[in-house]
Formats: sequence, structure tokens, C-alpha cells
Amino acid sequence: MDKLIATGGGPLKGRIRISGAKNAALPLMIASLLTDDTLRISNIPHLHDITTTMELLGQLGVRLQVDEKLAIETDASGVGSVRAPYDLVKTMRASILVLGPLTARFGRAEVSLPGGCAIGSRPVNLHIKGLKSMGAEIRIENGYIIADTGGSKLRGARIFMDMISVTGTENIMMAATLAEGVTTIENAAREPEVVDLADCLNAMGANISGAGSDEIMIEGVERLHGADHRVIPDRVEAGTFLVAAAISGGEIRINDVIPRHLEAVLDKLREAGCGLKSGEDWIELTTPESRLRSVNIRTAPYPAFPTDMQAQFVLLNSVADSTATVVETVFENRYMHVHELQRMGANIELDGNTAVIKGVKSLYAAPVMATDLRASACLVLAGLVARGETTIDRIYHIDRGYHCIEEKLAQLGASIRRVPGYYLERRSA
Ligand code: EPZ
Repeated sequence: MDKLIATGGGPLKGRIRISGAKNAALPLMIASLLTDDTLRISNIPHLHDITTTMELLGQLGVRLQVDEKLAIETDASGVGSVRAPYDLVKTMRASILVLGPLTARFGRAEVSLPGGCAIGSRPVNLHIKGLKSMGAEIRIENGYIIADTGGSKLRGARIFMDMISVTGTENIMMAATLAEGVTTIENAAREPEVVDLADCLNAMGANISGAGSDEIMIEGVERLHGADHRVIPDRVEAGTFLVAAAISGGEIRINDVIPRHLEAVLDKLREAGCGLKSGEDWIELTTPESRLRSVNIRTAPYPAFPTDMQAQFVLLNSVADSTATVVETVFENRYMHVHELQRMGANIELDGNTAVIKGVKSLYAAPVMATDLRASACLVLAGLVARGETTIDRIYHIDRGYHCIEEKLAQLGASIRRVPGYYLERRSA
């Protein structure tokens, strides 16, 4: 398995371009199942999860064309299967997003239950509840969700989401575009990725209003046609690089970003003592002479502080000037990075979903292991500010969500390199 080796060094300085958002691109690609026309999606990030999604769509019978800029053209006129197999779904939970579109367009879907992952049990009961409310017959058989409309169309319904769920909202919204009548999703997720999907569906002829608010209304239409849509920038990648510059005492300009998508993160960086300027599609960060100030964090659904930035701020607080608490309210087990940071000298006490972090002057290098996508990014950043050479193992987690992270960090002056697994195996043999 490949590893990353990061050497603690000086401040990160320079400019980088942010890639398209993974969590927008995945539902956008899956929306192709809703039409037999061509859907063109540009600014797709080059990530392992994108490849997995292409494989899944290919197995369903969607024809895909990729151009040199990684824009994808899809043609779902020849879909021959409605079955999303376990071997694919287990590698990428977002595969559950095919459930709504397949049921709405073909009247049937067989999607493997995704199972849990490192950060929590990740149930999909809200996805299932939504489709049931719209008239689908749902049963669980040998680990698969079997949804069937008995040959009729889904019916519009009023659906209250007991918990705010991003992909739950997206799945139901996609299914509702082809239902008979009006569907209202109450307590809907407000994430920018949900809005991006709604914008694309409307460009395909859907009739969606209220995306971005907690109540989304979808009036079903007969069919959807093709469209040409550009994926929004990845607010989590942007936040991750801002934290990298902040903790290294550097300065950075990030381009092709939408500042209002990460307002809660920018707010906390200002509170930590960073200087921030932004324009329509760029953000500039400078850092104070003194150490960063510790900042209390509480994660919650958008527009509050994003859970996907929690690990990065546990790291920031680990090297800040006093003590802070971080409370994770979205997932039940999203502190796997804490144990690895403690091995690098961080002073963190965990109490349930609260981390109490006392800043230390410096971390020191240690071999660490990535566990989930965002935690692994935090460990790479830790390696860039720790004294010595940090080896990060299981970096396939990083490749799922960050497009060439080591190349972008190296552009900022970071000392980081990828060592292919076979080299390490041979050396240790
Ligand atoms: C999306 O996951 C993102 N993934 C996650 O990003 C992100 O962390 C999460 O939203 C929260 O913002 C994609 O968009 C592909 P949820 P999702 O449904 O939709 C509970 C990353 O690193 N819940 O909003 O799976 C659930 O257990 C990933 O890029 C139910 O109880 O998250 C959690 O506690 C990690 N029943 C809470 O809701 C359900 O049916 C929020 O989960 C669905 C969710």
C-alpha cells in the first residue's frame, strides 16, 4: 500500500486552484439515471470515488465518455440493470444514491445496504422512509434494499426528515422529480451540494424550489432531458488548505472557490487570529506573528461548522495557544484521528463526542495511519508541522477525496512525497 512521507518544515506559501466538490459530483453523475438524454458534467475532480461511481453506472448500463479535462458525458438510454452490487457499494457508501433515481425511472431498484464505516453506523432508514412515503414497496433481502413500485409511478408526498441527511435529501429529491404530483421535503439538508444537484435537475427540466432552505418542494414531471452542468468547488478541500497554511504560519491564495460556502470555517480562522480577504471566487489567508488562538468548535449541518472540517480543527487547536473544546454532533465515531495525533504529542482528552485540546508548542513526527477521508488529510497536515519525518499509511482514504493532495501541498512548498507500496514491501523484504 502506498504511503505518504511528510517532513515538518517552514510556512506554506503560494496559490492553488480548488477542484470540483466530490460530494456534489457523486449525486450529479448519478442523476444521469433519470434521463435517456446526454448529461454533461464538467469540473469533475480526479478521485477514486469518481472512478467507483463510473464503474457502478457502467455496470447498470450507462454509457460514459470522459474528455481530457475530466468532463463526463453520460447516456442512460440503455440501462439494463437496476442492481447496485455489494462489492461496489461497500467501497463507496454514496452508491446508495442510485436507489431514488432507479426506482423513479424504472420502477425498481436493488441496492446493497451500504453497511457502516469508520465514522459511524451510517443508517439509511431516512432514504427508505422517503421512498416508502412515495409509494414504493421496500423490503430487505440478503443485505439488499429491494424497492418496487409495482409498475406505477412514485407519488408525491410530504416527507419530514427526522434527522438532517445530505444524501437522504438528495435521494428523495431525485426520486421526486419523476413522481406524480408534488413532494415536499421538510427538515431538508441545506448543503451547497444539495443546491448544486437541484440546479442541475432544474436544468434537466425538473421543477424544484426551496433548495438551500429546510423545505424543498419538487413538482414531478413526465421526463427529464439532458443538460450541461459544472460541479461547484470543493469547500472542504478549500478549508483543508486554509488550515494547512494557517498552522504552518504561512499565507495562501486559493482560486476557484465560493467563499460563502465555507463562511463558518472562515469565521473560526478569523477567531484563531488569521487575516482573511475574499472575492467572488478566491480567498487569501495570512497568519499572525504569534501562535494561533484556540477556537471552540461545534459541528452541525450547514450552514453551521461542517463535520468534514472537524479533524482539521482538532489539529489546529493542537498547536494553538491555549485550550479549546471540539464537539462532534453529526457522527458518533469521528475522532479516529485523535489517537494518531496523540502519538505525535498532541494533548487531547476525549469525553464522548467532546475533545478537550490543550495546545502544545510543537508536534513531533511518528508513523501514523489514516482511517477516514478527512482524518487522513489532518494527519498529512500534522506531518507538515511536526518535527521530523511522518509516514502516513493507508492513504487510499485520502485518494478518495483529495485530488493529488501531495502535489498541491508541494506547490505551496511542503516537503511531502508518495512512496509506492511495492517499493516499501521490497525494501522491508
Ligand atoms: C454526507 O454524508 C457526506 N457524503 C459526508 O461526507 C458528510 O460528512 C455528511 O454528509 C454530513 O455533512 C456525501 O455527500 C457523499 P448524512 P451522508 O446522511 O449523507 C444520520 C466525506 O468525508 N442518518 O447527512 O451519508 C447519520 O448517521 C463524507 O466526504 C440517519 O440516521 O450523511 C448521521 O449521523 C463523510 N439515517 C447524520 O444523519 C439516514 O437515513 C447525518 O448523515 C441518513 C443519515
